[in-house]
Amino acid sequence: MKALVLAGGAGTRLRPLSHSIPKQLVPVAGRPVLFHGLDALREIGITEVGIIVNGVGRQIRAAVGDGSEFGMSITYLRQDDPLGLAHCVMIAQDFLAGDDFVMYLGDNIFAGGLLTPMLEFQTFRPAVQLVVTRVDDPSQSGVAEVENGRVTRLEEKPKQPKSDLAVTGAYFFTGEIHEGIRNITPSKRGEWEITDAIQWLVAAGREVRAHVFEGFWKDTGNMGDLLDCNRALLEGLVSDQRGSVDGSSEIVGPVVIGAGARVEGSRIIGPVIVGPGCVIRGSDVGPYTSIGAACTLTDAGLQNSVLLDEVSVHGVRAIEGSLVGRSAHVRRGPLRLVVGDNSRLEVPL
Ligand code: TTP
Repeated sequence: MKALVLAGGAGTRLRPLSHSIPKQLVPVAGRPVLFHGLDALREIGITEVGIIVNGVGRQIRAAVGDGSEFGMSITYLRQDDPLGLAHCVMIAQDFLAGDDFVMYLGDNIFAGGLLTPMLEFQTFRPAVQLVVTRVDDPSQSGVAEVENGRVTRLEEKPKQPKSDLAVTGAYFFTGEIHEGIRNITPSKRGEWEITDAIQWLVAAGREVRAHVFEGFWKDTGNMGDLLDCNRALLEGLVSDQRGSVDGSSEIVGPVVIGAGARVEGSRIIGPVIVGPGCVIRGSDVGPYTSIGAACTLTDAGLQNSVLLDEVSVHGVRAIEGSLVGRSAHVRRGPLRLVVGDNSRLEVPL
């Protein structure tokens, strides 16, 4: 079985960060979101992978390379405009060559992996095997109506959802999906919707099944969900100390300290990842915080946050629920702001 990983898209909800880094490369729990996805695919034995990238996919190619680090062989497929999930399958037709494949949305996190749904797909061999999960507000998702494991109807972002089963970002397909896609037209928002293609197969009487995923699943498309993913993955963190911690520092709970990092006069409450080459001095960090490589924190306080590489924080002690981009500087001073387009900012009164 092959995999088609979708790592293009517009990423509007993660602006301004996504202006300079594809959202699939934003790290959660110390590793780019996309790497967690590739790990999950490798775990279920998939080695032949096509990755959809957009016009600025250079960074993804540089990060993932030919896939050998993941034990995979990667083919890059370019999508010039984000014309929808079914459009990605159209672009990938030659690569897929009619074989079974799993389509995986590159900004999704499935803690616990995809082995059970894959085994279900292989046992029943339906035309399509969806992975669904119960959510509080299904109106923002594709929603499946399911009877005895079989999907009877599928609707994209329904105003009045008829079930609480949201379609997640892993789809197991046989070659029949191409027939579904040939029979749809773009939706009102101008996208080729995979939901429409699957619903076409349901209406044509083909077998579409749904596996109810019980583990943690979310996409990292917006900041709140990205921090939730970071927290969920950090829950399983195992301590590993490669850098140095001086005698006046205190480390509590699971903490990873990368090679060459220095922790001095600081308190770190895990789960926390401190990237390689960081310097943390006179600071309080954690819990649920991932710090990228070569960051400098002095007299800082930080929890439930993600810092990308080379960030510096000086003299600011109340950072919480934050996402800070590469090489950003945060320091104490009068309120003077340089704020990127489409940023969101919360300032205490
Ligand atoms: P979405 O998060 O649904 O779309 P988006 O990336 O355009 O995000 P936003 O709504 O914030 O603008 O996409 C899910 C995944 O699929 C994500 O990894 C991007 C990828 N994708 C493509 O590769 N091509 C596409 O045409 C679309 C719509 C998404």
